[in-house]
Order: sequence, then structure tokens, then C-alpha cells
Amino acid sequence: MRQVIYISTATSQAGAVDASAILAVSQRNNGRDGLTGLLYSDGKRFLQALEGEDAVLSRALARIEKDPRHRAIVILSDRDVPAREFGDWSMAHRAPGTDAECFLQRVADLVATASPQVRATFTGFAEVRRAA
Ligand SMILES: Cc1cc2nc3c(=O)[nH]c(=O)nc-3n(C[C@H](O)[C@H](O)[C@H](O)COP(=O)(O)O)c2cc1C
Repeated sequence: MRQVIYISTATSQAGAVDASAILAVSQRNNGRDGLTGLLYSDGKRFLQALEGEDAVLSRALARIEKDPRHRAIVILSDRDVPAREFGDWSMAHRAPGTDAECFLQRVADLVATASPQVRATFTGFAEVRRAA
């Protein structure tokens, strides 16, 4: 099982990118492909974790990397995991303007069983965004 975590920057000029459209397509495709993970977005930055079989994950990443709605993709982690660390979620997401504390708690719950490195990545990113 491969797990990839990356951050990227939204390219939308007119404010927040439409994350709900990204989410709808992701949930459909990822459900079909057996991919799970987490998408964090505050409208300006993305943080995504994706887990699944190597070949399908590579194909999804190839599509995602070409997507003009974001740029400056930086892979934070790319490794084999013995089992999924993001449970059965096909994609979890926080839209800008929704309750940050509530979302952070959900993220914390989701990554509770993840490796310390993954937990630190997510909580660190979320804290930085809250402080910004
Ligand atoms: C930040 C970000 C995350 C995305 N995550 C996924 C994803 O997890 N799965 C997926 O299939 N597409 C994802 N997409 C969308 C893909 O870039 C692409 O538009 C989509 O896979 C095309 O699917 P289609 O060929 O079925 O229309 C993401 C796009 C962005 C900007």
C-alpha cells in the first residue's frame, strides 16, 4: 500500500478555489479506484494524503499534478504503509469559513492511528494555517 502526502498552492485569482467541485470528482474517482485519504483546503493551500495501490495512485497523481487549479506541488512524504492510515474516508475536507476547531478535531481523530510523522505533518500544517 502506497501513501503520498503533498502540499500545493491554489491558483485561483478570484479568491477561493471551488474545493467542492474537486471533492465531488475526487470522491467519485477515488471510490472507484480504491483510493482513500484526506484533503485539507483553506481556499489558498491544499494538503492532501492519498493511499492505495501503487499503480492507481500513480495514475491519480499524474492527473492531479497536471491540474491547473493548483501549482507548486511539494511531496512531503511518499512511502509504503502496511495498512491504510486514513481509514475508510474517501476524502475529508474543510471549506474556508467553517469551524476550524471542529475540523481540526476531526483531522486529529482521523490521523490518530497514523504514524507520528503523518500526524505531525497534518497538525503542524493546520496550526500554521490557523495562525496565518
Ligand atoms: C488539490 C487537488 C486535489 C485533487 N485530488 C484528487 C483526487 O484525490 N482524486 C481524483 O481523482 N482527482 C483529484 N483531483 C482532480 C484531478 O486533478 C482531475 O481533475 C480529475 O481526477 C479528473 O477526473 P476525470 O478525468 O474523471 O474528470 C484533485 C485536484 C486538485 C486541484
